[in-house]
Amino acid sequence: MAAALPMIRLGVNVDHVATLREARQTVYPDPVAAACLALRGGADNITVHLREDRRHIRESDVTRLVRELPLPVNLEMSLNPVIVEFAESIRPAEVCFVPERRAERTTESGLAVRLLADRLFPVVQRLSEAGIRVALFVDPVDDEVAAASALGIHAVELHTGAYAESRDAASRAHRLERLSTAARRARSLGLAVHAGHGLDYDSVARVAAIPEIETLNIGHAIVSRAVFVGLEEATRLMKERMRDARRGGVP
Ligand code: PXP
Repeated sequence: MAAALPMIRLGVNVDHVATLREARQTVYPDPVAAACLALRGGADNITVHLREDRRHIRESDVTRLVRELPLPVNLEMSLNPVIVEFAESIRPAEVCFVPERRAERTTESGLAVRLLADRLFPVVQRLSEAGIRVALFVDPVDDEVAAASALGIHAVELHTGAYAESRDAASRAHRLERLSTAARRARSLGLAVHAGHGLDYDSVARVAAIPEIETLNIGHAIVSRAVFVGLEEATRLMKERMRDARRGGVP
C-alpha cells in the first residue's frame, strides 16, 4: 500500500488586513485579531511582509504577533539592514527573504539568488545563529534552488505566481511541471519546500498535490473571501481544499 502523504500546512498572510487599516489610517482592522481568527480556521502559521515603505504591516504588528500568537510567525522581508536588525531582535520562527521594489503592487519575482549570494550569505548566517529558520523566495528554476541551498538555508518558498496567472492549459501544465521539478530538486537537497503567491481557491489544488511541498502561504484570496464569509471560514475553506488535494481529490 502506498504511504499516505504528510499533511500540508497553511500559512495565512494577513498583510491585507493591515492594508485596509492603512487605507484610512485607523487602528482597525487589527491584523493580530485577524491572525487569531485564521488560527481558529486551521492556519498553521501566520505570514506577514514588513515592507520597506510600511504600506501595510508595521513593526508593532510583528512584535505583537510574535509575542501574543500561539502560532509560528513567518516574516517576509528584504535585505534592508534596519529590517534585518529588527528581525534579529524580535525572533520570529522564520524569515523569508523576498525581493522588493517600491513601485510594485506585490512581490513580482523570486530572489536573484546567484546575483545576491554574497549579500545573502552573512545575513542568513546571522539570523540562523539567532535561532530563526531562514527561507528564500525563489522562482522554480533549478539553478536558483541549487544556489539557495548552497547558502545553508532551511527552506525555499517556490514562487507560484506564474502558475496561478497562466490562463491556457498548455502553459498551466508547463508551469506546474516546473514547480514539481523544483520541489523535487529542493527536497533532494535537504530543504523544506514551501510555495505561494497568487494562489486562489481553484489554483491551490494542483500545487497542494505536489508531495514535496509542506507549506503554502496564501493571503489575498483568503482575505478577499473573508469579506463575505469571515476570516475563520475563509481559512477553513482553503485548508479543506488543500487537504482534499493531498488526499488525491484534485478536481
Ligand atoms: N509568499 C510570498 C513570498 C509573498 O511575497 C506573498 C505576498 O506577500 C505571498 C506568499 C502571498 O501571496 P498572495 O497574497 O498572492 O496569496
